[in-house]
Amino acid sequence: MPLVAELDLPTFDHTDPALSGSGYRAAMAGLSGYDGWLAAGPFGSIVLDRESGEFFLRTKDAVFPGLTIGQLFGIDDGPLHQEIVNNIININGDDHRRLRNLVNPALTPRAVDRYRLVMREFLAQLLSAVPAGGRCDFVEAFAKPYPSLTIAAVMGAPLADAPRLHHWSNWIQRQFDATSLMSERELIEQAVTEFYDYADRLIANRRRTPGDDLISALIQAVHEGDRLNDAELRDLVLNILVGGVDTSQSQLAHAVRLLAERPGQWELLRSDPVTYAPRVVEETIRFEPITPFTARITVTEIEHRGVTFPAGSILLISAWHANREPPDEFDITAQRSGRVLTFGAGIHYCVGANLARAEMQEGIAFLAQRVESIELDGEPDYGTPSGIYGLESLPVRLGF
Ligand code: HEM
Repeated sequence: MPLVAELDLPTFDHTDPALSGSGYRAAMAGLSGYDGWLAAGPFGSIVLDRESGEFFLRTKDAVFPGLTIGQLFGIDDGPLHQEIVNNIININGDDHRRLRNLVNPALTPRAVDRYRLVMREFLAQLLSAVPAGGRCDFVEAFAKPYPSLTIAAVMGAPLADAPRLHHWSNWIQRQFDATSLMSERELIEQAVTEFYDYADRLIANRRRTPGDDLISALIQAVHEGDRLNDAELRDLVLNILVGGVDTSQSQLAHAVRLLAERPGQWELLRSDPVTYAPRVVEETIRFEPITPFTARITVTEIEHRGVTFPAGSILLISAWHANREPPDEFDITAQRSGRVLTFGAGIHYCVGANLARAEMQEGIAFLAQRVESIELDGEPDYGTPSGIYGLESLPVRLGF
């Protein structure tokens, strides 16, 4: 059986700064690998189909490479080290199962429904700030402030703290970006220290005065007689903050871009927002995943589809490829059958998926009900697919 390193694979560098927008799309679409399922990237192999992607996300023999990245960059003490070791994404087995059993009930579809009303209030506030002519950068006006306001409400934090939460989330997230780790580590460390301190105070406050929020729910969470201690609570709150801001921001911005580029789909959405807003959300998550690659490292030798992956092999699982269905179109009327990998799969499947869906559904339904038309008012400024694939700006003209 050949070793993965012995295969003649097409190459693709997802960290190439030139990759964005239509260039990124063309490069991804043009990639057809070994027997259609494997390509070579700068750090390891790229898995290109759904079945193999799910296999590597679900196997116990591969884990998220967060601890390995930390070691490579010499992060062996201090707040960032503590954060990496305690990050739920780097915890596996029984310890992970225990944390998920305690946190999952606070983020079920029903549990997140309680935040829908406040989401609508935020959207109305943001819309009222758009100038009368309707010209705005959708990212600055909606996509960026909306998730941090939502996460503040979810945590029971003062809404005035939303910009600070955005700042911390953005910086702490850079631990997954090699370039930032090399050049900006001190600022990442500082953000972790500041947020830990902030979270400690918030948790102490919620212990004294519980509310109808996620932290109060996590404080009260009990599974088989077991509870979260303060350190676990603080790390979970951090994981939820860091996981829940740039992601929802980027996915919502892409949804609106896709609609602004397709007036027919926008009209359809407006004809029946209750039916079509959830479909816009699902189709965006499928068609333009903002987490195009999820990483794994093998902890033991794995054989898959006649290829041997030695222990220590790095794999990038491409949700972008796994999610494709012919014809390759964004179509909110299409009946889709397959599972998408945008939220991952297996034990680390995104704990915030229900919250992200609710936020996006509310955002899209609100726009469809309050805005007659959305047109691009300039070229979108795309980010790069290394990490979270977002939009830097999205100039639009809203018609009222
Ligand atoms: C469209 C929005 C989002 C996308 C596309 C997304 C994507 C993902 C993916 C791909 C993973 C799995 C990573 C892996 O297995 O390596 C993940 C895990 C996670 N996400 Fe999300 N996410 C989104 C929104 C959120 C939100 C709103 C929150 C917070 C409420 C959140 C919190 C987390 C956490 C804490 C994990 C780790 C779960 C674990 O290790 O068990 N995410 N997310």
